[in-house]
Amino acid sequence: MLKDKSLIAPSDFTLEEIGELLARAERIIESPARYADVCKGKILASLFYEPSTRTKFSFDAAMLRLGGNTLGFSDPNTSSTAKGETIADSARTVGKYADVIVVRHPKEGTAKLMSRYADCPVINAGDGGHHHPTQTLTDLLTIRHYKGSFDGLTVGFCGDLKFGRTIHSLSTCLARYQNVHFIFISPEELTMPAFVKEELIEKGVQFTETTDLEGSISQLDVLYMSRVQRERFISEEEYLRLKDYFILTTEKMELAKPDMIVMHPLPRVNEISTDVDADPRAAYFEQVKFGMYIRMSLIMSLLGAEEPRA
Ligand code: NCD
Repeated sequence: MLKDKSLIAPSDFTLEEIGELLARAERIIESPARYADVCKGKILASLFYEPSTRTKFSFDAAMLRLGGNTLGFSDPNTSSTAKGETIADSARTVGKYADVIVVRHPKEGTAKLMSRYADCPVINAGDGGHHHPTQTLTDLLTIRHYKGSFDGLTVGFCGDLKFGRTIHSLSTCLARYQNVHFIFISPEELTMPAFVKEELIEKGVQFTETTDLEGSISQLDVLYMSRVQRERFISEEEYLRLKDYFILTTEKMELAKPDMIVMHPLPRVNEISTDVDADPRAAYFEQVKFGMYIRMSLIMSLLGAEEPRA
């Protein structure tokens, strides 16, 4: 039962619970109109201390499509944060108004902290370079749509593996399925952090690390691209040096399997050439759509909303 639970990292949910969320999202995709009133009278608060397009709007759209309402900010300077209010006090306050809180913050651990003080479930919409569990649910729904299951896949993560929170969340979550292999493709300066690698080693998952996208692309079932996370760099010079390290082009796509899919949490900067968008293996804009449906499923579960009668 997910009712009243917070979601801070994918490991907060069992694989069975994740399976139920995915199955419900698939039912919603089949007949969204049936779900139009299931969260009537409920309120979702979104507190975005960092920029967002997809995560913020997909949560808003999800709640509105379930018949609920939304409130919140996307600029913390319009809230009492600007007056020096602590995260704990903001959580205590917003938890009195809303039935569920969605929070994105540049500092690792903020969502967890909020969940200790809010009277309602808290969903982590990204905490610094740490985790982004609802992007993982989005990614799992996308992979299941194209690949049918997760077992036995070889997944390549390419780009900024050091700061990419969507990559930390998805790799540790996929590691819980059977026989999944990873190829981590990044510049030496942006390799996967120890907290992720340790978890994978503990789970006995096989992974290799390389700087060579062209040399590894033919082995992949899923290629997960990511942008270099400019806002987490201390040195702008270092960012400029690394930002175009990998660019996925139509020439490189020719080396890939005919059924490999390309995913990206977006926003894209330069790392996927726009020519690749027309390739049927480019799944990243479909992935956006799955993000809204899985968030509808998640909100329903955390609020304990009943499945509509057939
Ligand atoms: C990601 C994020 O915020 O971590 N975006 C998203 O939520 N889809 C990826 C990114 O910003 O690069």
